[in-house]
Amino acid sequence: MARDYPSFVGLLHDTYGDLTFMRVGTERAYDVFDPAMVRAALVDQADHLIRWERGIEIFEQTFGQSVLVTEGATWQRQRRMLMPGFAPRRVQGYAELMTAAARTVLDDLVPSVQREAQLDAAALMTRLTMDVILRALFSQPDRGESGDAARATQLLSHCAMREMFWPVTLPDWLPLPGKRDKRWGLRTLRGLVHRHIAQRRAMPPDVAPQDDLLAMLLAVSDDESGQCLSDTELHDQCMTLFQAGHETSATALTWWSWLMAVHPQAQQRARDELHVVLGERDPEAASVPDLDWLGASLKEAMRLYPPVGGLLSRRVVKPLRLGEWTLPDGALLRITPWVIQRDARWFPEPEAFRPERFVATAEPPPRGAWMPFGTGPRVCIGQHFAMLEMTLVAALLLQRYELLTVPGEAPPEPELNVTMRPSKPLHLRLRRRNAG
Ligand code: HEM
Repeated sequence: MARDYPSFVGLLHDTYGDLTFMRVGTERAYDVFDPAMVRAALVDQADHLIRWERGIEIFEQTFGQSVLVTEGATWQRQRRMLMPGFAPRRVQGYAELMTAAARTVLDDLVPSVQREAQLDAAALMTRLTMDVILRALFSQPDRGESGDAARATQLLSHCAMREMFWPVTLPDWLPLPGKRDKRWGLRTLRGLVHRHIAQRRAMPPDVAPQDDLLAMLLAVSDDESGQCLSDTELHDQCMTLFQAGHETSATALTWWSWLMAVHPQAQQRARDELHVVLGERDPEAASVPDLDWLGASLKEAMRLYPPVGGLLSRRVVKPLRLGEWTLPDGALLRITPWVIQRDARWFPEPEAFRPERFVATAEPPPRGAWMPFGTGPRVCIGQHFAMLEMTLVAALLLQRYELLTVPGEAPPEPELNVTMRPSKPLHLRLRRRNAG
């Protein structure tokens, strides 16, 4: 289980079916694989569940009391306050800064004298999505912060995963494996957020940006209580949006770029579509609905490699009815998109990369069978932001480069940390398209 959690859970499903029970120490753990049951739990009976306490304790160390961590009335208030900033129409307003960020990174990737370059896909996608979130949050392009911030994110993700399986968190000052990295990672990310907030507070109101996420967070007040976010809440929400807002999208784009490299026909079809819809123009928010195949390829990539592949765990706080079963108070409920999204009942030949499953004319899978953003009241708040960002980045990338694998490099293996990334650096070749 510790060595390869997703395969272990897959085996549970293959052997025992749609609802399984096991004891792990004192835990009574249930895994649910049936999409209807997943929805019955996360959507219909969401108030019978809280998030798994140990996972939340770990996240709290990085994200404080933010919307990702809180429960009950505090979570409802925070979510209500943040929602307007992530509504589909508001999100469309970020399209320009997303394309500006992507162009800046992509245009200089391959030195002009060369035809192609070999790159670490995850490093590239992290640079891209970090630049996007820095602009969306703080109206600041990446000024050299992204290298350290990316390293800090990965170190914290590894530490979080290790500590999640300890019964308690030992103090960070102890000379234990990983604690030094964790202290450095937290210091780096907190420093970055703190610096940006302090800079904004020092700006005269007439020059301070009005339409980024930080401006939204500074201006919001709760309709019901009239309260604004406290300084700590503001810091914690920024930490969360910065982290949750780039790591997952970078992971999805990493897997997508590899899948497109190993499926040149799917890649060419996306490029042909771009040519028809855009010609040589840059994509914008309004073009996204017309990029049906490109969007489908991203959805299919997130089906095969969901960035949050497992550990969507919940504690049952009121008896939970699932079909003919009732899970008792205190049970642990585990949901593993990695397994649910590779079920041949909903996705025939589940291991195959087939974007046609998600094109507009295809029969959609049953609700709950495709859930890279989760579902129910705690569904990802950034899902529209992420889909727009990824479509624009993918479009700009394919307009400029052909994605190719590196001969002799073994296919990547997924590794479950907080997100599910390739276990080793994944290299791709980017060939300039106008190089002849
Ligand atoms: C491909 C990209 C993304 C994926 C796959 C993803 C996935 C998820 C998932 C699965 C959850 C739910 C976790 C649960 O039920 O316990 C979640 C929650 C969340 N996501 Fe995302 N996410 C993505 C992008 C983003 C972006 C771009 C942002 C913000 C800019 C964001 C912010 C959040 C926040 C704040 C929550 C917590 C919501 C709550 O608990 O109310 N995510 N995400």
